[in-house]
Amino acid sequence: MVGVIGSGAMGAGIAQVAAVAGHKVVLYDTNDQALDRAKKNLSATLLKLQEKSKITSAEEVLGRISFADNIVEFSHCGLIIEAIIEKLEVKKSVFNEVEIVVSPECILASNTSSLSITSIAAACKNPSRVMGLHFFNPAPLMALVEVIPAIQTNPDMIPAARELMLKWGKTPVIAKDTPGFIVNRVARPFYGEAIRIMEEGIADKATIDWAMTEIGGFKMGPFALMDYIGHDVNYVVTETVFQSFFYDPRYKPSFSQKRLLEAGWLGKKSGRGFYNYNEGAETPTPVKDAELGKEICERIVVMLINEAVDALHLNVATAADLETAMTKGVNYPKGLLKWCDEWSAQKCLEKLDGLYDNYHEDRYRASSLLRKYAIENKKFV
Ligand SMILES: NC(=O)c1ccc[n+]([C@@H]2O[C@H](COP(=O)([O-])OP(=O)(O)OC[C@H]3O[C@@H](n4cnc5c(N)ncnc54)[C@H](O)[C@@H]3O)[C@@H](O)[C@H]2O)c1
Repeated sequence: MVGVIGSGAMGAGIAQVAAVAGHKVVLYDTNDQALDRAKKNLSATLLKLQEKSKITSAEEVLGRISFADNIVEFSHCGLIIEAIIEKLEVKKSVFNEVEIVVSPECILASNTSSLSITSIAAACKNPSRVMGLHFFNPAPLMALVEVIPAIQTNPDMIPAARELMLKWGKTPVIAKDTPGFIVNRVARPFYGEAIRIMEEGIADKATIDWAMTEIGGFKMGPFALMDYIGHDVNYVVTETVFQSFFYDPRYKPSFSQKRLLEAGWLGKKSGRGFYNYNEGAETPTPVKDAELGKEICERIVVMLINEAVDALHLNVATAADLETAMTKGVNYPKGLLKWCDEWSAQKCLEKLDGLYDNYHEDRYRASSLLRKYAIENKKFV
């Protein structure tokens, strides 16, 4: 039996995945309205899946999910996945409460996007049974799950967690318990460098979005994507990653995005973000200059490549898992290490060193592993 704490966007999605995979699921929330909403939404979603013949019986799957407002219902669970508000103190106290109710063998996982699994585990009497299982939104559709052992986690749990995620139809990758794990770390320059290019006046947002989709092959441009994710989520992740990396300038947030948040221009959901989504608003036209587009695309992609190479250098994940994470977690058109191989490590290094020489900012420092591969003319994948 699987227990899920929090019946919001992620908790309800994770409950659906587990129930479709055949588990009995207890979905718990302290907010009755949230539980009711989750029940209605799950019922509607499962019916749609039945109509599309993706599942045989919505009733059967829904029958496996019970909705609980009392944590005691978790007593028979073998795995608990927490997906509540992103606040360390609240998560710690919930893990504390749960630990008393469940059996000593029960595994406790957190779906946190940006908090340290190690610090959540430290709140438990038995921290060795705590790990991270980071799903992506929407959980039933996004294949990637980052499996994150804390430094206290019993290592034997990791292969079992990988196997379980495979059984749930997911694509697991193993990530070190470092800020942003894989995806939320490596993807930072997609947003940050795009904003920097706009702030410097090299190109406007529509042109940058055009370059990244048309030339780079990304599904969405950075500004459209930030508006879609919402600046309340995207900016906060950037700020948390920046602070957690002891203020490494590579992850520095931007004032342009902070101002949007302060204005309540949260993106698509509030009708306005970088773009205006209100009826009758004009859509800005990109400057479709091939040379400018190539320059923008190369600058952002090379910054992404540098992040991926540095994550490899610091053993955040294996090369294969880094490639899987960026293609399945954020749908990049290809793995960043493969991209580096195609352009060659020398060309990537030249671009980065060019940026560094121009700005003299630590933000543009090349990973020493990229320099090594450039000198030795080696490939990553
Ligand atoms: N939304 C995303 O894109 C996304 C992606 C990956 C991971 N996450 C992570 O998943 C977690 C949940 O995110 P979300 O977007 O589903 O949030 P959400 O706000 O949609 O849902 C959170 C739910 O938790 C409930 N809750 C709050 N405190 C509780 C408590 N003490 N006990 C029980 N229930 C409680 C709330 O009532 C709410 O229903 C966060 O840690 C977030 O960082 C979010």
